[in-house]
Amino acid sequence: MRRFTIAATGAVLALGLAACAGGGAGSDGSTAEESGEGGLIGVAMPTETSERWIADGNAVKAGLEEAGYDVDLQYAADDIPTQQQQIDQMITKGADLLIVASIDGTALSNQLQAAADQGIPVIAYDRLIRDSENVDFYVTFDNYAVGHQQATSLLAGLGVLTEDGSDGDATGPFNIELFAGSLDDNNAHFFWQGAIDRLEPYIEDGTISVPSGQTEIEQAATLRWSQETAQKRMEDLLTSTYSDGTELHGVLSPYDGISRGIITALQNDGSGPTIPEGLPVVTGQDAEIGSVKLIDEDVQYATIFKDTRKLADQAVIVAQAFLSGEEPEANDTESYDNGVKVVPSFLLVSDVVYKSNYYDLLLETGYWTEAQVASGQS
Ligand code: BGC
Repeated sequence: MRRFTIAATGAVLALGLAACAGGGAGSDGSTAEESGEGGLIGVAMPTETSERWIADGNAVKAGLEEAGYDVDLQYAADDIPTQQQQIDQMITKGADLLIVASIDGTALSNQLQAAADQGIPVIAYDRLIRDSENVDFYVTFDNYAVGHQQATSLLAGLGVLTEDGSDGDATGPFNIELFAGSLDDNNAHFFWQGAIDRLEPYIEDGTISVPSGQTEIEQAATLRWSQETAQKRMEDLLTSTYSDGTELHGVLSPYDGISRGIITALQNDGSGPTIPEGLPVVTGQDAEIGSVKLIDEDVQYATIFKDTRKLADQAVIVAQAFLSGEEPEANDTESYDNGVKVVPSFLLVSDVVYKSNYYDLLLETGYWTEAQVASGQS
């Protein structure tokens, strides 16, 4: 829990600076909280089954509350009608602004229209909301770069590259399989494209191949990013393609929950318990504590760290700007076309986590503690 306090403090500091720069403080220098100019902000999150969304929700709530706002934080158990209802209720309760991490990015047009009709700004959080002109801003990571990093970490695990991205000694040929996220999540497409663009030259020159032939995102997709679904697909791939003794060397996985499903299937099939003992290289995303433990134990090879504290801070800064009648600062106004318009965005940078650098990235920064890594529990 300690890290949420740190995140909140960061947000307040950032807001303090933003207020000074933008003239948002009261004439006596008072903050929003002191002058009581807050309001109600609805925060809609997809699910509590993945740690990252709990961290996101807590950090956004703490940051907004520190800045003087009331917060209605809701999780929708990955159920689309539930999320629609929660947002409807936030609007009914008089929310002044909405921050939404969607489940299905195409399913919220009615809610966003209702928000627009009442002049309520909407910030898409981490996941782009599609097919609506009523998305005012998008805070996220550079999702294409995340996919690129995932493929880089796979190539590093195979020895084709080194961890710093330079050429490694291994020449292959290597057999890999590909997993993608949930197709209704816009991010899944960006992660996939970034990864495929990175892998393509190595597929073309024969360094790596995909023996199952399942190289389309539709074939590789995992509805709702489900660990069980991924485990089942990996089991099916092992039966269909590897039961004749064909070796599997690596698996591109876009999310730590999916990675753990893949690893379970591989271990049940008799692959080594660790990578040095024969387990294929498996990538990931989110630096979930269970996966950081597996990285420490040489079971999962890598993950991607997206610092949810920074994303939450950014959402708070953008909310504050809207509610002070200012234009939030975007650093990307080209990449995120939601089908109706290009949504102004603020993109943050992610890092690849290996066994060699998780201490610096995750422990030194207070994201996880050593005890949490040892136990694998948050
Ligand atoms: C997020 C990832 C996360 C995935 C599954 C994506 O939209 O960007 O960080 O791994 O959802 O929750």
